Amino acid sequence: MKKIAVLGTGYVGLVSGTCFAEIGNQVICCDIDEGKILRLQQGEIPIYEPGLEDMVKKNQQEKRLSFTSDIPKAIQESEIIYLAVGTPMSESGEADLSYVKAAAKTIGQQLNSYKIIVNKSTVPVGTGKLVKSIIKEHVQDSCVDFDVVSNPEFLREGSALEDCMNMERAVIGADNDQAGQIIADLHEPFHTTIFRTDIESAEMIKYAANAFLATKISFINDIANICERVGADVTHVAEGMGMDSRIGSKFLQAGIGYGGSCFPKDTQALVHIAQEVGYDLKLVQSVIQTNEQQKYAVVHKAKEIMGDVNGKTIAVLGLAFKPNTDDIRYAPSLTVIPELIKAGANVKAFDPIAIPATQQEFSMKLSQEQQQNIAYSTDLYGVLEGSDACLILTEWQEVLQLDLEQAKSKLKVPLIIDGRNCFSLEMMLEKGFTYHSIGRPA
Ligand code: UGA
Repeated sequence: MKKIAVLGTGYVGLVSGTCFAEIGNQVICCDIDEGKILRLQQGEIPIYEPGLEDMVKKNQQEKRLSFTSDIPKAIQESEIIYLAVGTPMSESGEADLSYVKAAAKTIGQQLNSYKIIVNKSTVPVGTGKLVKSIIKEHVQDSCVDFDVVSNPEFLREGSALEDCMNMERAVIGADNDQAGQIIADLHEPFHTTIFRTDIESAEMIKYAANAFLATKISFINDIANICERVGADVTHVAEGMGMDSRIGSKFLQAGIGYGGSCFPKDTQALVHIAQEVGYDLKLVQSVIQTNEQQKYAVVHKAKEIMGDVNGKTIAVLGLAFKPNTDDIRYAPSLTVIPELIKAGANVKAFDPIAIPATQQEFSMKLSQEQQQNIAYSTDLYGVLEGSDACLILTEWQEVLQLDLEQAKSKLKVPLIIDGRNCFSLEMMLEKGFTYHSIGRPA
């Protein structure tokens, strides 16, 4: 059992802190946002993640997990300090390290005994060394020692607890063998493969892994666009490709591009890291460009099929960047809906949980008049009622299980443009829909 402080109660900090408590450690999650800490102390979870609320409550009740805004005290009382603060994208595409630097300064000022500082935030290569130098600069008692370790995060939103409790591997970068071993031992109850390396390589693994997954997605989206022109079916192409174990079948689902807080930010940051060392990372730049274009795929199809969308009512199914989350950061819906509105359409948008976040985003980005052309609802069939077309943006379970007969009876025109390839072509033909999807024959 270790005493762990986790700095930052965002997605990564909250999930990993809770999982470390779940395997028996004493965890204190900290944040400078006092309101957020108060809500967490009362069991109110700021993000939607299946199972998280229950696991937080259970560990709070069993006194292994607590929340505080008294960061100095939490640091002083802990043996291991996880840095899980945000590293948002700055205007240049570079990761903004201001929160990491501020946290390192506080750790330095509060260092009262040997501690291991573990970086879980996604940070550019070299940040481990930077954190070390900031702590050293602010440490009050120069006899007190510490080590810095890199332990990047590989959780997916929507399945974060499952990913954490059954992690495929833990990457641990350390230049002190003993410190690396302590963090490796901490992961023992997860029964996972431990990969030990140096700090710089661990930091690079995180960016390389995310950029590679993003590359797979943009690659299959490019192939999908060619498939449409040559009459091939991208789902068959992906299946046939994925059977080669060197390629693998995962992350080959063609669609309307990746969104979320990770791939868009981390691909940009990697391009920036490369630029800084004088390397032109053309491949990842193309991945980003393909992804930006792909978000328009369903809008182009709608305009092509319907002609003018001016005055038409379009049902949009899904606002979140993927199912099981209320996260809309870089979601295709944020591109698609304004495009439809600008073209004169009225949008009826369905999402089970991401409506408040979307409304807030559009209140800042769209004019009052434009916002009035969007109606939101958690009632899927109500959204379809009287619509001239249906656009699928997120493959929510409710969407995958759509009652097609009922959907057809509700829609004014039985037209579905599916950005996530949710249904089989045969079934849609049999049910009498005009069905257009991504990379498959219409
Ligand atoms: C991603 C990585 O998968 C995690 O390993 C990583 O820890 C995380 O980023 C992070 O850096 O924190 P996440 O963004 O939560 O996780 O979600 P994914 O499931 O990876 O999906 C990302 C996007 O790619 C979604 O918009 C999804 O719709 C899209 N996607 C995914 C596709 O379009 N096709 C696919 O085949 C797979």
